[in-house]
Amino acid sequence: MIATYVLFSLMLCAAESQTLKKFIGAVYEHAVILPEDTTIPVSAQEALDLMNKNMDILEKAVKAAAEQGAHLIVTPEDGIYGWRFTRETILPYLEDIPDPSVNWIPCTDPERYGPAPVQTRLSCMAKHNSIYVVANFGDKKLCTTFDAECPDDGQYNYNTAVVYDSQGKLVARYHKYNLFLGEKQFNAPSEPELVTFDTPFGKFGIFICFDLLFYNPAVALVVEHNVDTILFPTAWMNLLPHLTAVEFHSAWAMGMGVNLLSANTHNTSMRMTGSGIFSPDKVVPYFYNMENEEGQLLISELSSHPRKSATYSPTKWNLHASIIQNFPSGSNVFKGYLFSDNYTFTELTDLQGKYTVCQNQLCCHLDFKMADKHESEIYVLGVFDGLHVVEGEYYLQVCTLLKCQSTDIASCGESVEQASTRFESFSLSGNFSTSYVFPEVLLTQIHLAPDLFQVLNDGRLISKVGISSHPLLSATLFGRWYEQDPREKLKKVKTDKHSKNMLLDE
Ligand SMILES: *[C@@H]1O[C@H](CO)[C@@H](O)[C@H](O)[C@H]1NC(C)=O
Ligand SMILES: *[C@@H]1O[C@H](CO)[C@@H](O)[C@H](O)[C@H]1NC(C)=O
Ligand SMILES: *[C@@H]1O[C@H](CO)[C@@H](O)[C@H](O)[C@H]1NC(C)=O
Repeated sequence: MIATYVLFSLMLCAAESQTLKKFIGAVYEHAVILPEDTTIPVSAQEALDLMNKNMDILEKAVKAAAEQGAHLIVTPEDGIYGWRFTRETILPYLEDIPDPSVNWIPCTDPERYGPAPVQTRLSCMAKHNSIYVVANFGDKKLCTTFDAECPDDGQYNYNTAVVYDSQGKLVARYHKYNLFLGEKQFNAPSEPELVTFDTPFGKFGIFICFDLLFYNPAVALVVEHNVDTILFPTAWMNLLPHLTAVEFHSAWAMGMGVNLLSANTHNTSMRMTGSGIFSPDKVVPYFYNMENEEGQLLISELSSHPRKSATYSPTKWNLHASIIQNFPSGSNVFKGYLFSDNYTFTELTDLQGKYTVCQNQLCCHLDFKMADKHESEIYVLGVFDGLHVVEGEYYLQVCTLLKCQSTDIASCGESVEQASTRFESFSLSGNFSTSYVFPEVLLTQIHLAPDLFQVLNDGRLISKVGISSHPLLSATLFGRWYEQDPREKLKKVKTDKHSKNMLLDE
C-alpha cells in the first residue's frame, strides 16, 4: 500500500514538472458591484467592504473553475471596485503592490509590506484552490518632488493586473500603459512594461483592455517575447460594427496566432459584455449577454503552444490582393462615416458580383454571392486607410463587407445587430501595407462564426460551407499599421535623435 502510494505521488510530481501540451483555462465575466457614489471619498473600511463583496463572488468563480480542473482563471478589469473615480476617491481602494521579484506569497506572509488585505485574499484564493488567479485592481507608489513627473498629490496610481500562481505567489504585475478616456484616477507608466512569466503550460503575457489596440505592449509581447497565451482583463464597451468585444478579441487571437483569455466586466447599460477563451485555430467558448446582469464562468482546454500546432502558419496578408487585377468599383460609390472614420463604400447592388474599392494605398477586393437578399437590407464593401482620432490615435487599414443600419446609404457604418440576408459565399482581401491584420466575421445578433470562415495563407478571408445558414452582419479585415501611429513616430524621432547624439558623443 505504502509503496504504491509513494510511487503514485512520485509520478504526480514527475507529471507536474513536465511541460503540458494542453491546459485548462477559465475566464469569469463579472457583474461588478459598484460603490454608491464615486465622487465622495469613503473610509478604508468602507472601500474594503465593497471590494470584499466583489471578491466573495470572484472567489466562488475561482473555486468552481478549480473544481472543473482549470489551471488558471482570469477575472476582469475594474472587477473589484468598478470605475469613474477621481484621484482622491480611488485612494482607499489602492494597495502598494511590490515587484514580483520579491518572491512573496501574501497568503502565508500577509504583513510583509504592511496591510495588504486585497493581495492577501487574492493570493489565498489561488493557494487554497491550487490555481493561477489573474485579477485587476490599483497599485500606488509614493514619489517626491525629486521626481519631476511626480503628480501633485505625491503618488502614482496605476491600473494594475496581478497574477498569483497555484501556490499563491505573486508572479506578475502589470501597469496599464494605454489608459482609456476618463481614467483620470490613474497614471500610465512612463515606458510600456512587457510582463511575461513561464509555466509548465507555456509562456504567458499580460495587458489590459485598451492596450489591445496598440503595438506596445500587446504586439511586442507576441513578436518580441514569443508568448503563447495572453491574459486579458478588460472592461470593454462594445461598439459595432468592428469593435465589439468577442468579435475583435477573437480576431486578435487569430491574427496574432496566440491564445487570448479575455474576461470582461458585465454591465449592460455600459454595453460591457463579451468574454471568451480565444485561440487561433479552434472553435471556442465565448459569452455575450445583453439580457440580464449576471456573471458567467467559461472553461476550455487550450493548446499550450498554439503557434507550434500543425495547422498554424503565418499569413501573407497582401499576397492575393497584390497579384490580382482590380475588379470594377460598382455603380454606387460613396463616402460614409464609421466610428468617425471617412470610409469609401460601394453598394452591393446585385445578388452576386466582384468589386474593388480603394482609398489612399489600400485596395479591397470582394467576390461574393448572396443566398437571398432582403428588400429592407443593403450591404456595402468599404475601405479605410487613415488615422483614427476619436478615443485614441491609431492608424487603420480596413477592408469590410457590412450590412447598413437601414436602406438609407447614409446609415452605412452605423451600428446594427440584426440581419436577415444570408451569403452563399464571400472572399475578401486587400493589399495591406501592414502585416498585422485581424479577421472578423460577425453573424446576426452578435454571434461568432469560428468554424464558418477561414483565412488562407495568401491573405484571403473566405467563407466556408455552412455560412449560408446564418444571416451575416459583417466580414472584416481589420488592419493596424502601427508604424504610422503618432506615438510610434514620436518614439522613432526620439531614438533617432538619441543615436545621433551617441554618434556625436563618440
Ligand atoms: C452599470 O454601470 C452604470 C454606470 O456606472 C451604473 O449606473 C449601473 O448601476 C450599473 N448597473 C448595474 C446593474 O450595476
Ligand atoms: C470625407 O471624404 C470626402 C471625400 O473625399 C471629403 O469631401 C470630406 O471632406 C471628408 N470628410 C472629412 C471630415 O475629412
Ligand atoms: C494597392 O493597389 C493599388 C491599385 O492597384 C495601388 O495603387 C497601390 O499602390 C497598392 N498599394 C500597395 C501598398 O502596394
